[in-house]
Amino acid sequence: MSKEKVFILALETSCDETSASVVVDGREILSNVISSQVPVHRKFGGVVPEIASRKHIENVIPVVDKALSIAGVTLQEVTAVGVTYGPGLVGALLVGIAAAKALAFAVQKPLIGVNHLEGHIFANFLAYRELEPPFLALVVSGGHTSLVHVKEYNQFQLLGQTRDDAAGEAFDKVARVMGLPYPGGPQIDKLALLGNPTAIHFPRALSTPGSHEFSFSGLKSAVLNHLNHAAQHKEEANHADVAASFQAAVVEVLVAKTLEAAQECCVDKIVVSGGVAANSCLQSTLSQQAVNAGYSVYFPPPVLCTDNAAMIASRAYYKYLSGFTADLHLNAVPGLKLQ
Ligand code: KG4
Ligand code: ZN
Repeated sequence: MSKEKVFILALETSCDETSASVVVDGREILSNVISSQVPVHRKFGGVVPEIASRKHIENVIPVVDKALSIAGVTLQEVTAVGVTYGPGLVGALLVGIAAAKALAFAVQKPLIGVNHLEGHIFANFLAYRELEPPFLALVVSGGHTSLVHVKEYNQFQLLGQTRDDAAGEAFDKVARVMGLPYPGGPQIDKLALLGNPTAIHFPRALSTPGSHEFSFSGLKSAVLNHLNHAAQHKEEANHADVAASFQAAVVEVLVAKTLEAAQECCVDKIVVSGGVAANSCLQSTLSQQAVNAGYSVYFPPPVLCTDNAAMIASRAYYKYLSGFTADLHLNAVPGLKLQ
């Protein structure tokens, strides 16, 4: 007898994307609707939490309706409802959680709370159907820079994370002082293609072997000092060289620490995820060095790198299989850690 398919409807509202998705058996995306608030927040140079919450309220039900309709699945046909409950902006998270509770309650289906970071890692299961743990995961986004040993579907060990700014946050802040629009990561990525990555030597913090922690705030300050120094001397800083040299410093540290951690965990696969995983320099440098060292490397396609509900649905599926469901007391946990 064939196994009954599991349809997960998932919601993601932890930051500035309102997203809903239907995924079958944790791997097959039927729909992945993403309503981005980027244009709304751009004029403020970053995400304004109160505005994000209000926009999620406006968007969440239309986005869910669209995800169900594209998937050709009714709410009654959904097996379980997954939702991000942290980490993220508290008001933004609460909108998704309230909607997911109401939907699950209406059709008497299980509710599953998902850690956003775990979701980012699981984006790779959607892109690579043959991928299975164990592997080392590098999660690099606007809010996180973490190295995680994924031992099994429900077993994670956080090896290290950033002490201050996340990598994406550093990209966004450097871009902002260079007058580039939010989010700055893709802008720096493009501008860096025109510059020389060895033109300016920016610091590589905590680069002594053995440390799995990151720090990007000193690098960000060094870039600001370089730009201020040029302005004070009435010189024109070469923004393409600044972008390329800054990006090279970030990528060098990310790649070195990832390879070292992979070796320590005795895995043969490296999985990258989060918005910064879309960075072209990180993709080419890590792919080249990791493949030379004998690792297989996985990057999700850009739409699954940045925030989306399909990755939350994939994670929810594996929690569902293990019986990790939530009840209607599920609350937002803005500082949620990996289990
Ligand atoms: O994962 P994500 O959508 O949201 C968080 O959970 O934080 O990541 C957004 C971050 C932003 O900081 C953005 O600038 C960065 O990912 N990003 C990039 C690139 N594309 C997005 N950073 C560097 N290069 C890129 N191509
Ligand atoms: Zn994210």
